[in-house]
Amino acid sequence: MRVVVFFSGTGTNLKSILDHQNEYGYVVCSCFTNNPKAEGLIFCEEHKVNCKIIDHKDFNNREEYDGLINSFLENLNPDLIVLAGYMRIMSKSLVDNWEGQIVNIHPSLLPKYPGLHTHQRALKAKDKVHGSTIHFVTSELDAGPIIRQESFEIESSDTTESLIKKVKNLEHKIYPETISLLLK
Ligand code: GAR
Repeated sequence: MRVVVFFSGTGTNLKSILDHQNEYGYVVCSCFTNNPKAEGLIFCEEHKVNCKIIDHKDFNNREEYDGLINSFLENLNPDLIVLAGYMRIMSKSLVDNWEGQIVNIHPSLLPKYPGLHTHQRALKAKDKVHGSTIHFVTSELDAGPIIRQESFEIESSDTTESLIKKVKNLEHKIYPETISLLLK
């Protein structure tokens, strides 16, 4: 089962997905980033996985940019497209072409807090629980059908930084597991 992973930054979820390939029986056949300086590129190198880099800053037009992504995906024909901290909105035509095959992980208990700054928003709202959601990607931002959601209790000592850490630790466990289940 062939997986393509999209990321934009630190890539700790990418690392976890790569590290669990043998255990869960899927193969990351390629990666994609919009950010030539993404720290996560190091994990592609370590695992000797090709990473296609297309800098979104070189494009004014999202359709044109996503057209290149579509060609990249058509050449690979993966079973699953995994967004792991990919911080670009995908155009409707791209999402429609790969409907049911693109999954995303989002650091909140959706439908709470789509978009950015989810940890700060949970703290500000004095939420008792926080967590992460894996969902299918549709053309509506962070709103596709939910596949899996995991939560934990927020402690009075929690800060944005501690919540980021707790959510990522959770994500590193549930994302590879869920990918393997989706591919069965
Ligand atoms: C993860 O926490 C992921 O849930 C979030 O970005 C982080 C990426 O971390 N994704 C989004 O906010 C998407 N809306 P990583 O680069 O270390 O894997």
